[in-house]
Amino acid sequence: MSVVTDTKLIAPHGGTLVDRTGERPDDLDTLEVVPLTSRELSDLDMIASGALSPLEGFMGHEDYEAVLDTMRLANGLPWALPVCLAVDAAPRGDRVALADESGKLFAVLEVEETYEYDEQREAQQAFRTTDEAHPGVARLYEQRPLYLAGRVTVFERAEPSFPELAKDPAETRAEFSERGWRRVVGFQTRNPIHRAHEYLTKVALETVDGLLVHPLVGDTKSDDVPAATRVECYRVLLDGYYPSERVVLSAFPAAMRYAGPREAIWHAICRKNYGCSHFIVGRDHAGVGDYYGTYDAQLIFDEFEPHELDIEPMFFEHSFWCRACGSMASAKTCPHGGDDHVFLSGTKVREMLGNGDLPPEEFSRPEVAQVLIQAYQA
Ligand code: ADX
Repeated sequence: MSVVTDTKLIAPHGGTLVDRTGERPDDLDTLEVVPLTSRELSDLDMIASGALSPLEGFMGHEDYEAVLDTMRLANGLPWALPVCLAVDAAPRGDRVALADESGKLFAVLEVEETYEYDEQREAQQAFRTTDEAHPGVARLYEQRPLYLAGRVTVFERAEPSFPELAKDPAETRAEFSERGWRRVVGFQTRNPIHRAHEYLTKVALETVDGLLVHPLVGDTKSDDVPAATRVECYRVLLDGYYPSERVVLSAFPAAMRYAGPREAIWHAICRKNYGCSHFIVGRDHAGVGDYYGTYDAQLIFDEFEPHELDIEPMFFEHSFWCRACGSMASAKTCPHGGDDHVFLSGTKVREMLGNGDLPPEEFSRPEVAQVLIQAYQA
């Protein structure tokens, strides 16, 4: 394998890639055990791997308030969403063991503080709504009442859902360097890649060295396409339509928050830690229902100074196939009217797939649609 060592990737957020993995302590059995939800567990593992650099643990009160009010940590570094661990009561000791809901132990947390939080305020600031019908808000309202903060040491890494796609930030960085890439665009998705997504990623790739297709595989809402089906879609699509020497496919282990604009910032910062210099933000990024305006997740980037985030967002208008242009396009590049544009609602697409009908090729590659049809019919 050729090794290129002289490429220079973007620095991790805050300057250093955090590594909070470590040894299982001898006194583990004596520690109070705190159970984590699946969202907290995925955050824990991302702290361990440095995906959430510069965080070394679950957030303290000062950082939490600063993030809600200013989208920055207390030290001024941009950070968009709380990364907190909710508990019923303050622990007695100065260290606790962190477990999953079955009691399996993963980490130790050095207790710094336990504090109250106002769930309505967090909902309004992070999600821009207090409506419990919002899936992220609903999850927040179900949480335990106090936040427990402190640095973590993870001695047992979470079992990745797709081991062959599990790559820590240090690993994607090594792979980019090996390939000689310096400018890398990251693509977040929680959906199968249809033609519009393909268009964004390829237009972006035209201007940089490489593309990280980074589908989120943590918790999603029940009506999103399951990650296992999506992974199959990504594989057939990449095999058929992308140059392998320009693309890395890897799973992003985060849970979806559906926080729209703030999540776009958070997603971008995480991808910077994975070594991406650029990040795609299209229409209604990380949105759900009608909670956010189509381009709110782009506008929010203006709340930062030009080089504050360092990672460069690449914004895309709502894209579609235009029959008159005979290509993918957007309102920015196409002069034709809606009648020429191929638009299918999510409901319509699900109905077609459920009936075993292939959606038009202008909407989805047939290989991808085939995987989805099989999944829907199973
Ligand atoms: S997301 O929750 O991960 O944002 P999704 O997988 O649908 O959902 O979108 C992935 C990325 O593609 C996001 O940046 C989103 O804004 C963008 N996107 C999805 N569909 C389109 C489209 N038709 N036109 C432009 N951008 C799009």
